[in-house]
Amino acid sequence: MSCRQCVCVKNIRYLVGVKKMTDCQGDGEGTNSPMEVYEKLTAQGEEVRALKTAKAEKAEIDAAVQLLLKLKVDYKQLTGQDYKAGCPPSETCVAPDNRPSADGANDEDTVDPWNVSTSNAKGVDYDKLIVRFGSSKIDQELVDRIEKVSGQKPHHFLRRGIFFSHRDMHQVLDAYEKHKSFYLYTGRGPSSDSMHVGHLIPFIFTKWLQDVFDIPLVIQLTDDEKYLWKDLTLEECHRYAVENAKDIIACGFDVNKTFIFSDLEYMGASPEFYRNVVKIQKHVTFNQVKGIFGFTDSDCIGKISFPAIQAAPSFSNSFPQIFKGRKDIQCLIPCAIDQDPYFRMTRDVAPRIGHPKPALLHSTFFPALQGAQTKMSASDANSSIFLTDTPKQIKNKVNKHAFSGGKDTVEEHRKYGGNPDVDVAFMYLTFFLEDDEQLEKIRQDYISGALLTGELKKLLIETLQPIISQHREQRKKVTDERVKHFMTPRPLNFNF
Ligand code: TRP
Repeated sequence: MSCRQCVCVKNIRYLVGVKKMTDCQGDGEGTNSPMEVYEKLTAQGEEVRALKTAKAEKAEIDAAVQLLLKLKVDYKQLTGQDYKAGCPPSETCVAPDNRPSADGANDEDTVDPWNVSTSNAKGVDYDKLIVRFGSSKIDQELVDRIEKVSGQKPHHFLRRGIFFSHRDMHQVLDAYEKHKSFYLYTGRGPSSDSMHVGHLIPFIFTKWLQDVFDIPLVIQLTDDEKYLWKDLTLEECHRYAVENAKDIIACGFDVNKTFIFSDLEYMGASPEFYRNVVKIQKHVTFNQVKGIFGFTDSDCIGKISFPAIQAAPSFSNSFPQIFKGRKDIQCLIPCAIDQDPYFRMTRDVAPRIGHPKPALLHSTFFPALQGAQTKMSASDANSSIFLTDTPKQIKNKVNKHAFSGGKDTVEEHRKYGGNPDVDVAFMYLTFFLEDDEQLEKIRQDYISGALLTGELKKLLIETLQPIISQHREQRKKVTDERVKHFMTPRPLNFNF
């Protein structure tokens, strides 16, 4: 998960890139191959976005939108198909564009691996995101089915819609019912040695899945990715990977069922892994990754080829020591929804190189203390509660920085009540307070005004302090040897 600074850099680059693209656009005459019109359309879409971002004059934006619409009509006439960003005319469609629509129709949320933002205080509109990304909602029926198949009460992240979207989860359950195994894959980009509570969400959930289904788990630490995207040395990134591994191990994973690897180490040690990377690279074009990830001509080629490295662990023969060379074991990936672009790409490539498509479970974002317009960021100390924060720091941060949905004065609050939907303390309780009844009572009392903001914050502080202290205790127990054990390629306790 990237820092704000990184997002800025990306936006600036993006604007520069757009300028270049429009400069060489010509006047629209004499270009009639589908690919040329497609490229013009893509450039024009970016132009519209850039103008909107730069808050340009309305007339200028309208003119750019008009040109965009004209190009869309031309494209349809030429190809018989609707234009889709990220889907060049001559290639199979990898994925719908995950960026906001460029036709000026509405201001949608921004969700990609480097940027999460919305103008809505309640946070990202996740139902819309499901439609835009083409995934499926985790509805009550699926939650019930997970309960039936696993024989366990569904985790509160499932009960409360924190994991809200999926791809092919029914298929995984069908197979599991027929006694076919599957494996879990998740990961973390180690951009610093301080992880915050939001980073724990996918791991807490993955641990639950591992316990419930009793299956192997691989965890990718993308130290290579952070080196490519950030101003860090290879040594720093690798060191962060090992430090982060300690926090991950502290979540309670079973060493006999879990393999944690750093890309910088494992890529060189595993020919099978690298073979999959190369196969994936051969089956995705520059145009496709541009469409999916928004890369521009000035991005280094490491970034452009990196998605193949995040895709490779989705295929079981990348881990011959665990799966004995089998390539048909289905993979299930729990991750935050911003990682979906990587896996849309992976799912497109999979059948073409003879692998099952990975299934996915997507989570919402863990909001920043300042409000759900963006997610927590490790680079902004005041936006996050770190796993290293002391009980006192937790108390101060929550009291000082957590955005409140309460009223300005006690009198008003008692009279009109607070709004839990925008209240960060309440949102955090939905993540960390396990008791459904207690949570519902808190919600009702806050709405009615019986519970004040200060009291709500106190409840959160008392919930978080022991969780983080316990994590710190567990982390202390993780020795270098133990990390090494988790990170050594070896068979796990499963027979394939
Ligand atoms: N790119 C992710 C990040 O920056 C790390 C990652 C790698 C990951 N593989 C993954 C996350 C699989 C979720 C699932 O955090």
